[in-house]
Amino acid sequence: MLVWSIASQKGGVGKTTTVASLAGWLQKENLNVLIIDTDPHASLTSYLGFDYNNIEKSLYDLYTQENFTKETIQSYITHTNFPNLDIIASSMTLATIDRKLSGRSGVGRILTNALKLLEDDYDVVLIDCPPVLGALMVNALVASTSILVPTQTEFLSLKGLEGMVRTFNIMRKADNGCIINYTVIPTMYDKRTKASRTSLEYLNAHYKDNLWQGQIPVDTLFRESSQKGLPITMLDEKCRGALAYRELLLQLLSKELELNPERISPKAAAIVSLSSGEKNTKSDVNKDMDIIAGDVDAMLS
Ligand SMILES: Nc1ncnc2c1ncn2[C@@H]1O[C@H](COP(=O)(O)OP(=O)(O)OP(=O)(O)O)[C@@H](O)[C@H]1O
Ligand SMILES: [Mg+2]
Repeated sequence: MLVWSIASQKGGVGKTTTVASLAGWLQKENLNVLIIDTDPHASLTSYLGFDYNNIEKSLYDLYTQENFTKETIQSYITHTNFPNLDIIASSMTLATIDRKLSGRSGVGRILTNALKLLEDDYDVVLIDCPPVLGALMVNALVASTSILVPTQTEFLSLKGLEGMVRTFNIMRKADNGCIINYTVIPTMYDKRTKASRTSLEYLNAHYKDNLWQGQIPVDTLFRESSQKGLPITMLDEKCRGALAYRELLLQLLSKELELNPERISPKAAAIVSLSSGEKNTKSDVNKDMDIIAGDVDAMLS
């Protein structure tokens, strides 16, 4: 079972859109997909047509349950209207989770332990992350086989990416030996604008080893798809935005086949044919991270 976190410390860069679009393609390929909405804003939960005030069981219940079995975890899952696509929904109460969990040991591995119990149920799990480095993000990153960092091709988002990479370095330091595979995904790319072109050059110059060599273009259908509560693949699978996400999916699966062959299901491996491998290297550890690293350390000890 592959686990992909979609994370950025910058808002509005396409995280939720990326989760919904990849989920749409995976579902179309008949893979079993679980989406986990860890953002207290619950955009993804709403995107898939649920009113987060009326969800019976949510991720909050999972985090606050001290001992769980496979059956308890399964009881937190909601089926969507789409075949093979399930969700563990978010709720506003998730915003209080850091306070709620403080002092509990092994806090950073709750999601990892829960997902181990679902290993046989899903091919891919997609986690929509909140923008802050707290227990929810640490849990998602630790549980992941791969992390996707959507980065809007404009200056402020590049700053957000720097923050994210610092977070990865903190995690590596806190959890000795933990491997973080991340892929930077340029989003909302418009080659006619100088801002987009310059940002892409910057990404190529500074993050080349972790940069997906495609781009998600600006496509107005994304807004329409979120308004209609449909992944873009169900609105128009031939539009350029949908096709770009398909290309991304093949690339990600191909990278997983290379880096985590034991985690990829035969069904998922079967759809990797066109993509080519990507190399991943470790970045240097930054020196001003010790304080935050201490916190993360405590979550993971
Ligand atoms: N490639 C794209 N082209 C055009 N619009 C897009 C594209 N990707 C996302 N959008 C739109 O941009 C807005 C922000 O996208 P999205 O909600 O996916 O970002 P986010 O990172 O999840 O935001 P937040 O931090 O608020 O959770 C949405 O209205 C979405 O429809
Ligand atoms: Mg979002």
